[in-house]
Amino acid sequence: MKIVVIGGTGLIGSQTVKQLQQSGHEVIAASPNNGVNTLTGEGLKEVLQGANVVIDVSNSPSFDDVPVMNFFKTANENLLPAEKAAGVQHHIALSVVGTQKLQASGYFRAKQVQEDMIKASGIPYTIVHATQFFEFAGGIVGMSMVDGKVIVPAANIQPIASKDVAAFMAKTALEQPANKILEIGGPEKYDMAAWVKQYLQATHKNYEVSSDPQALYSGAPITADTIVPEAAVSLGKTHYAEWIAMPENQR
Ligand SMILES: NC(=O)c1ccc[n+]([C@@H]2O[C@H](COP(=O)([O-])OP(=O)(O)OC[C@H]3O[C@@H](n4cnc5c(N)ncnc54)[C@H](OP(=O)(O)O)[C@@H]3O)[C@@H](O)[C@H]2O)c1
Repeated sequence: MKIVVIGGTGLIGSQTVKQLQQSGHEVIAASPNNGVNTLTGEGLKEVLQGANVVIDVSNSPSFDDVPVMNFFKTANENLLPAEKAAGVQHHIALSVVGTQKLQASGYFRAKQVQEDMIKASGIPYTIVHATQFFEFAGGIVGMSMVDGKVIVPAANIQPIASKDVAAFMAKTALEQPANKILEIGGPEKYDMAAWVKQYLQATHKNYEVSSDPQALYSGAPITADTIVPEAAVSLGKTHYAEWIAMPENQR
């Protein structure tokens, strides 16, 4: 099979490309650095020629409301018709568990638009909803910083290693389209403040952490289980405590 990975140079994309190459398929990492840009349409027609499967794991360079909406809307306006014209048989995209419940957030409104466009495209698809990546703990700290203190929502989180997400994306590429959302998450569910404290301790960052039922997640109010899977089809096998204790180059 010819498999094109849009965003194939990113955190998930690069690991997905490596895993699929090991299974002997023709895999192309497509990204602006490799001459494929979904925002401008550059290189799309050429890279999709003869492609059977497309995996979209691209992400917006900016998470601000207007640019992130522009990114996912424009990218899919270019990508999906180009796939249709090329006869692509399976479009797989990575989104986030709870996206439909987080619509007060500009980032999640943009991810919802991406999902709705895929469902309306007529291309057989699988949308994978993953929980937060282990690697995203620092991102959560950054977006939860108030006057030098970390204030997270009083809610649960079930993070997953990016390598386990990539393994699931690679496996999905070799299966029939589900034509629905498949949820995946990590092996353990934590209180968000407790998980963030583990990350800060392991990385020797000395911030005070507290939880607040009113605190927003990426600009959206959440309840206890908004961002944990309702019905995961697969759980990552990597445990956070073991992962964070490893040297970075062995993770
Ligand atoms: N962070 C989380 O915890 C989490 C959880 C669940 C789901 N997700 C989803 O996972 C997906 C992948 O995230 P990630 O962390 O792997 O992303 P990432 O490391 O930031 O990589 C983004 C990729 O998108 C590419 N890209 C940017 N602009 C592009 C364009 N105009 N045309 C084509 N490609 C473009 C980048 O290419 P260059 O390298 O050339 O810039 C890069 O390969 C996202 O869609 C996100 O919503 C994230």
